[in-house]
Amino acid sequence: MGDNMKKGMLTVIIVWSILLIGSLIYFNRDKIFKGTNYTNLGYSEISSQKIKDLKIDAFIKDTYSKTLDKALESDKYVNDYLQEYMNIDYIDNNDFINSINDLLKKDYKSNDINSLSFILSSPYYKYEVLDSYLQYYKKNSDKKDNIVILTNIGLNNDFYTNIREIKDPDNLLVLVNKYNKLPDNYKPSNLEDFDSKYKISKHEKPMRKEAHDALIKLIDDINKEGMDLWINSTFRTKDYQNELFTNSVKRNGMEHALIYSAKPRHSEHETGLAVDLSAEKSGVIETFDKFKQYDWMKENAHKYGFIERYPKGKEWITGYAYEPWHYRYVGVEVATKIKEEGITFEEYSVKYLGYFSSTAKEQ
Ligand code: DAL
Ligand code: ZN
Repeated sequence: MGDNMKKGMLTVIIVWSILLIGSLIYFNRDKIFKGTNYTNLGYSEISSQKIKDLKIDAFIKDTYSKTLDKALESDKYVNDYLQEYMNIDYIDNNDFINSINDLLKKDYKSNDINSLSFILSSPYYKYEVLDSYLQYYKKNSDKKDNIVILTNIGLNNDFYTNIREIKDPDNLLVLVNKYNKLPDNYKPSNLEDFDSKYKISKHEKPMRKEAHDALIKLIDDINKEGMDLWINSTFRTKDYQNELFTNSVKRNGMEHALIYSAKPRHSEHETGLAVDLSAEKSGVIETFDKFKQYDWMKENAHKYGFIERYPKGKEWITGYAYEPWHYRYVGVEVATKIKEEGITFEEYSVKYLGYFSSTAKEQ
């Protein structure tokens, strides 16, 4: 090989080497001059900066994890959980990072956490009661799809435990049940009695004005269709409810009383929004569902704002035996929704009123 040829070859090698090194430098300029800019991978500016500050580049490599991104962005990032964050599927919920931090602290791993997405992604999820969801799920894995709603109702606690005093007893959508009691001195204000032609006896049987007016329309309409419908029981004072409950215990024993009668301050009748109906003037209520009036109520009660409050099959949610005669006024819109969805007022309260048993903890 001649000298000129050697020189030529050398020049080509040098030029190619310069081009290669130049392009390597050019394409890695971020890493070389500024460190990697992780925003290219999808991380936010804040997260990208934190990756560099925390010197965790080696873990990131070329992967984007939304969970890690959100953890870094927040002030809740825990370095020990870095690898787990990267493997946890992100769920868009304000308390997600707090929630997974709590779970990781309890030694849950990323795959355990991913399998709890039915809790963490529920629109009714409340971070405050995460432990209750987990405990209730442990004992009720068959109710997986409804764990959040059921726990928010408070069903992780026995009936008549974890009781809360109601703050807004005048609210037409007040939830009165075995976990929620009316204030001791509460008495509804706008009670109105019915004309005696609607009642099984002449005794005073008032209801809140809204419920009173709606019930009159309902009874007038069902009467026009040739069916009788009688008002048996409406508003009750605390003392009267106490008397009913105590008598029920004496007559039928505690077990029976607890599922058919509310303890004083726990009865919807004390709000003036509930009514027991009878198909016969004699006032018998127990057989109400044997009459066509019951079928009519099933079909039409919601149009007047009433719901069947203690339906068959939902006893474990309402805490009461099937009571086809007991109706609660909630207004047309709410009653229609409850009928359409086939849910209890407890479930409605969680889904549409943001209700949750805020002190829901295992007793
Ligand atoms: N029978 C219903 C549950 C009440 O006592 O209010
Ligand atoms: Zn009743």
